[in-house]
This record gives sequence, C-alpha cells and structure tokens, in this order.
Amino acid sequence: ALISLRQLLDHAAENSYGMPAFNVNNMEQIHAIMQAADEVDSPVILQGSAGARKYAGEPFLRHLVEAATEMYPHIPIVMHQDHGSDPGVCLRAIQSGFSSVMMDGSLLPDMKTPSDYEYNAGVTAKVVEMAHSGGVSVEGELGCLGSLETGEMGEEDGHGAEGKLDMDMLLTDPEEAAQFVKQTDVDALAIAIGTSHGAYKFTQKPTGQILRIDRVKEIHERIPDTHLVMHGSSSVPEDWLEIINNYGGDMGQTYGVPVEEIVEGIKHGVRKVNIDTDLRMASTGAVRKHLAENRSNFDPRKFLKEATAGMQAICKARFEAFGSAGMA
Ligand code: G3H
Ligand code: 13P
Ligand code: ZN
Repeated sequence: ALISLRQLLDHAAENSYGMPAFNVNNMEQIHAIMQAADEVDSPVILQGSAGARKYAGEPFLRHLVEAATEMYPHIPIVMHQDHGSDPGVCLRAIQSGFSSVMMDGSLLPDMKTPSDYEYNAGVTAKVVEMAHSGGVSVEGELGCLGSLETGEMGEEDGHGAEGKLDMDMLLTDPEEAAQFVKQTDVDALAIAIGTSHGAYKFTQKPTGQILRIDRVKEIHERIPDTHLVMHGSSSVPEDWLEIINNYGGDMGQTYGVPVEEIVEGIKHGVRKVNIDTDLRMASTGAVRKHLAENRSNFDPRKFLKEATAGMQAICKARFEAFGSAGMA
C-alpha cells in the first residue's frame, strides 16, 4: 500500500532504522527493489525525478508504481518526487499520485545556481501548504551538495554541474536549519555534510571518517522531530567499477560513501538515504558482462535479468545494513 514519507520515517525514528531511497525510471529497477524488499521484509521508498517522468512518460511511471503496490500488497511503499525544481513540478507529482515530494529550493529552478535563504524558505513553505492539505509529505533541502575537497558540485547528477560553491554552503548550519523548519514545517530535511551527487565523490579511498557526522548530531539535536536526509549516498561499489572497466567501459578511479558512515549517520537522526549511482553501475556492469560473454544473444530479457539481479543484491545489502529489513 502507498503511505506517506512522514508515516514511514516516523516509524523508522521510533525503531531507529534508516531507509534507502532508490531512484527509479524503469520496470527493472522497480522489480529489483521490490524483490529485495520482499526477500528481507523491508518497506520501500521509490523516488522518481522529473527526468524519470520525462524518460518513462508520466502514465508509465505511475502505472509501474501501481503495479508494485498490486504485486506486493503487504509492503508499505512511499512514492517520492526527487529534487522538485519548483512548486509546479511538485504539484504535478502530487497530481500523479506521489505520496511525498521534495522541493529543492537550495538551488534556483535551473538546478545549477545556489539560491538564497529567503527564496528557499518561500518556495518550500508554499509546497508544504499545498502538499499537507492533501496528506502528502515534503522534503526540503538546506545547504548545497558539493565536494568538501574541491568545492565542486557533483558531476553527472543530471543537474548540469557548474562552477564552484562557497565552502560555507557545503555544510548545513544547525541554527539556520532550526529556523528553516519552523518557517516551512517540512517533514524531512536534506542536509549538506560532505556528500555529493554522482559517481565521482572522492578521489582517494576513504580511510578515516570522511563525512561530518558531528554536524548531523548537532542538527538532529536542534530539530529532533525533522527527519534528516542524506543525498549523494551511493557507495560506488569497487567490484562493479572493475566489472564495467573490464568489459569495455571507461570509468575513472573513484570512491563513494562507505556504508559504515551512513550507518553512523542513522544513529544520529538520518532516516532517508538517497541512492541512484550504485544501481546505475550494477545494471551497466551486468549488461556489459552478459553481452561480452554471450555474443550471440539478442534477447534483451537475458541481459536485463542480469541487471535486475545485480541491482537486487545491492538493494538487499542496503536494507540489511540500514536496519529496515524486518520492518515492513
Ligand atoms: O539526484 C539526482 C538523481 O540521481 C536523479 O537523476 O535527474 O538524472 O533522474 P536524474
Ligand atoms: P548518488 O548519485 O550518490 O546515487 O545520489 C543520488 C541522489 O542523491 C538522488 O537524489
Ligand atoms: Zn539528490
């Protein structure tokens, strides 16, 4: 059944677990997530970007999610709009039946230019008013995601990364977060603590702690009733990177967010963890490998099945690591 993000994350807070939120664009991704959730008895957050609705076509995306609720009636599902660029995008998601929307007012509608606080609070409050009157939850974002190493916004995130950010935007300020929540009444807040979108997050293999978990703690203490969200939380699996490059791919050396750091965040109020890149890499690696090893095959079901299996294994591992397994 479809439930709201607030309902699910309240349960996650009461039971001290975190929810992976996987991006979806097509049937195979939804199959992979639902099969893994069914196997370990986890609730699910399916999130679609505006780009996903454009890619699949709004009716197809809507019916794919409806198919998931019909096939798995025992699994609670949140259908969430990822990175709404303006209130109109959020309204269209609500009209499409989404039970939760993200108004990303940390950037202007071009999704490239950092906005100011007043703009962000204004558009977010507007979406909350509209969404809450229909029982739909809202996620806001305060701070800008970008590399603490270089000040660059993540690349290949579909946002058209451009330019450097001021370093003080790269970490969410706890006092400002408290003011933002009071002013907007958001259910969940995405925070900047050192993650960035896309595959190219860190150039060195992380040894010690790389995220500002101390900042998560401070923010959680100021706004304990607002569920914290980590974007850019793919772990960029080294095994899939190797498979991609061994079978004709050409990705650069790169490192993601260690799962243990996400688990640390979950201990301090993180309840939603956004993951897109990891599933993209598993499906690309599985397809490359299958086609290289089965050169005569021309039945897409054979390689798409491999892609589904690769994605499913990652989903299962995240449900287990974040503690949502057994919580459906
Ligand atoms: O943060 C963005 C997500 O990875 C979705 O990307 O806009 O290419 O669908 P997309
Ligand atoms: P990744 O690029 O790390 O998978 O992050 C996805 C995300 O934050 C979607 O909103
Ligand atoms: Zn994101």
